[in-house]
Amino acid sequence: MSSFHRINSLQDYKNTYQKSIENPEAFWDEIAKTFTWKKPYTQILDWNFKEPNIQWFADGQLNITENCLDRHLETKGNQIALIFEPNDPNTEVRKYTYQQLHQEVMNFAQVLLNQGIKKGDRVCIYMGMVPELTIAVLACARIGAIHSVIFGGFSAQSITDRLIDAEAEFIITQDAAYRGNKTIPLKSVIDDALIQCSFVKRVIVLTHANEPVSMIKDRDVWWEAELEKVGNANVPAETMNAEDPLFILYTSGSTGKPKGVVHTSGGYMVWANYTFEQVFQYQPEEVHFCTADIGWITGHSYIVYGPLLAGGTTLMFEGIPTYPDAGRFWDIVQKHKVNILYTAPTAIRSLMTNGTEIFNGKDLSSLRVLGTVGEPINEEAWNWYHDNVGKSNCPIVDTWWQTETGGVLISNLAGVTPSRPAWATLPLPGIQPILVDENGKENSEINIETGYVHGNLCIKFPWPGMLRTTYGDHERCRTNYFATYENLYFTGDGAYRDSDGNYRITGRVDDVLNVSGHRIGTAEVENAINMHAGVVESAVVGYPHDIKGQGIYAFVICNDHIHDESLVRRDINETITRIIGAIAKADKIQFVSGLPKTRSGKIMRRILRKIAEGETQNLGDTSTLLDPTIVESILANKQ
Ligand code: WT7
Repeated sequence: MSSFHRINSLQDYKNTYQKSIENPEAFWDEIAKTFTWKKPYTQILDWNFKEPNIQWFADGQLNITENCLDRHLETKGNQIALIFEPNDPNTEVRKYTYQQLHQEVMNFAQVLLNQGIKKGDRVCIYMGMVPELTIAVLACARIGAIHSVIFGGFSAQSITDRLIDAEAEFIITQDAAYRGNKTIPLKSVIDDALIQCSFVKRVIVLTHANEPVSMIKDRDVWWEAELEKVGNANVPAETMNAEDPLFILYTSGSTGKPKGVVHTSGGYMVWANYTFEQVFQYQPEEVHFCTADIGWITGHSYIVYGPLLAGGTTLMFEGIPTYPDAGRFWDIVQKHKVNILYTAPTAIRSLMTNGTEIFNGKDLSSLRVLGTVGEPINEEAWNWYHDNVGKSNCPIVDTWWQTETGGVLISNLAGVTPSRPAWATLPLPGIQPILVDENGKENSEINIETGYVHGNLCIKFPWPGMLRTTYGDHERCRTNYFATYENLYFTGDGAYRDSDGNYRITGRVDDVLNVSGHRIGTAEVENAINMHAGVVESAVVGYPHDIKGQGIYAFVICNDHIHDESLVRRDINETITRIIGAIAKADKIQFVSGLPKTRSGKIMRRILRKIAEGETQNLGDTSTLLDPTIVESILANKQ
């Protein structure tokens, strides 16, 4: 546990929040100075949201791995830092103490140095949920290389796009990954991705599943062989400026290809640690189990960095919640005496369909706190989680945040501020939310009917963990987040606020979908569908889905008469899988002869969204449509 002040009551939260708003610099100085700095900072904050230019602790120097590992060695050297639970419950669990993890990270850091990787180089990591993934991430940070983890479900084409955008010359991968009863050939996907990336100099390949791979001469090396060459290495942590990039993580927006969100060393470190301890109220020696994948921000902040910065014990699970059966999470909780379980509403909803037999004989008494993240949680799922998993005994933290925010921005604090079903509740200290209308005017009037203020959720003051830029294209960062409303960071979400200042997040107000907690841009899916030879044009919208939260509904115009609709649907989904990955497959594909467009040629998504949601009557104003009869024919053939 770190030595900054831990909030311990609702009143304490209110006082702390007030302080953080009245004098943010003094507030963050108190917290940041409890970390290990190679050179203490004297500047705390410099910012404007116009360019934007955001700098925290700018003249300070540090290395995040010293704070994750070295600083715990003296007091916690023999404490377990990392537990690895394999996909197959009958194979061996692996545990690393802080001492061991520190050594493994230095060893692999030496391997990276031996490959010619330097501070500032971008290293792409495409791996399954194995402990070596955490080691690879930390080894990059150790030498100041910028890691960019790509989720193992993305296709070769998606990897290529990211490698080119990040100008990444180095890759770390593994032969294959286990997920449930599937074996996913990661190295082979990398090989496909690299056909178009001759600038990649080195691929380091971990042996995990003993699957055959093709190793390319002068480019590919084995993790194990390189490790053997270094023995027990001593690699001092590279000195980083607080604002040096720590990692890039790609995420989808409403337009264009995914963008590389950049987080920096100092501010991200402070935010990941601070939010981890406050939100979960982590206690020494507790086992923290976050079920996310390290390919997403949740895994970065609450599997790797947050828990290790706090000197905690983090559990990594390789598999899926339903393998070998739907009781797997509860087996893991019992086996490792998990104290904090942090998962996504989509996982809860899918487990709910199995009834409560999945809890029979499972001892969940170690659980103290439950968490949820990724999408709005419906009350039914919240209650099921609370009653069956928490046995009505564990607070649920509903944590709202984004890839761009680095860590949690709005959430109750476990056992300290009240939980409330479907409400993320209160902003963390330092977070200044504001609700605005389409024109950026602040909404502060409570609606008499609902009792709430409603609006587009923005943040008006910087916090240490916020994104600094989008890699290689600062202008894109500005237009995406800081140009919609002057002097505000726009989140893309809508929200309600009650008279006590609690927030309820309603979901995206832009063309971004949230499918099983995965963020997917409609434009990306349309581009993929349009690559199919038979397709002329398409429009993609979301619709409510019982388990996934949102499903993907595609309206597609084809150039020929279709003889076998189900075959073409499968072909289109094959194309999406090839271009993006299976996570973006359409749940419904409707073939149409035209799309509802305005006279200026703009697709009226509002109408398509309503149709996809099952609305037949109130489609809103259709008078500006070029051809209103199209709507009738779409309605008549709805999927
Ligand atoms: C979007 C960000 C943050 C890590 C996982 C997703 C939605 C996230 C909640 C929540 C309602 C939520 C928002 C947000 N979201 N958490 N607790 N309640 N909605 O990160 O992929 O960057 O997605 O996820 O719509 O904008 P991401």
